[in-house]
Amino acid sequence: MTLTLRRAKASDASAIAEQFSDPDVYGGTLQLPFPSEEIWAQRLAGNNPPAPGSNELVLAAVVDGQPVGLAGLHPVGAAVRRRHVMSLGITVARSHQGQGVGDALMTALLDYADRWAQILRIELTVFHDNQRAIRLYERHGFAPEGRFKAYALRAGEYTDVLAMARLHPKPPRIDG
Ligand SMILES: CC(C)(COP(=O)(O)OP(=O)(O)OC[C@H]1O[C@@H](n2cnc3c(N)ncnc32)[C@H](O)[C@@H]1OP(=O)(O)O)[C@@H](O)C(=O)NCCC(=O)NCCS
Repeated sequence: MTLTLRRAKASDASAIAEQFSDPDVYGGTLQLPFPSEEIWAQRLAGNNPPAPGSNELVLAAVVDGQPVGLAGLHPVGAAVRRRHVMSLGITVARSHQGQGVGDALMTALLDYADRWAQILRIELTVFHDNQRAIRLYERHGFAPEGRFKAYALRAGEYTDVLAMARLHPKPPRIDG
């Protein structure tokens, strides 16, 4: 399998909507069934080209010309004092899970965060029983920070999530 990573774009929307129509994929996220290709096209149009000054980044993992995974770093809001924080989301199509695609996406996003994009803290939430995702995050330096009870409705049940975060392991400094 030859995997390439690049910035996701609006023309990926059809493949991404298809990926998110799988309950095994959207069930692990906060997305709803019956994804809209048009909504994904709008979201991804904002990612490519990026708005001037934005450090938001959504990467597509591409195999044989087809996007099979999506992972992004997103701003957490407009507060100036939280500009060092981004939130992370990731999904891989079921057909390509367990083959290192998630690992490659995480490695690329964290290199961007640590060495280029002025990001010091990355946050996420993950369903408490999503062991594959939790293991992926732990391998990449994320630690659990707490548990939100009945955080989201998932397949008819209010389900807890873990809050996880990763602090920059070695923030760049200026030697005077
Ligand atoms: C969670 C998710 C993103 C992980 O992506 P992935 O591409 O399957 O992740 P990887 O392949 O890098 O790692 C998964 C497993 O495959 C193993 N693996 C990695 N490369 C491999 C390879 N080349 N061959 C075989 N196994 C491999 C990893 O060791 C890992 O094993 P583990 O589950 O025992 O820890 C994916 O399962 C997913 O999209 N799930 C649904 C949506 C979701 O839950 N997203 C997270 C929301 S918080």
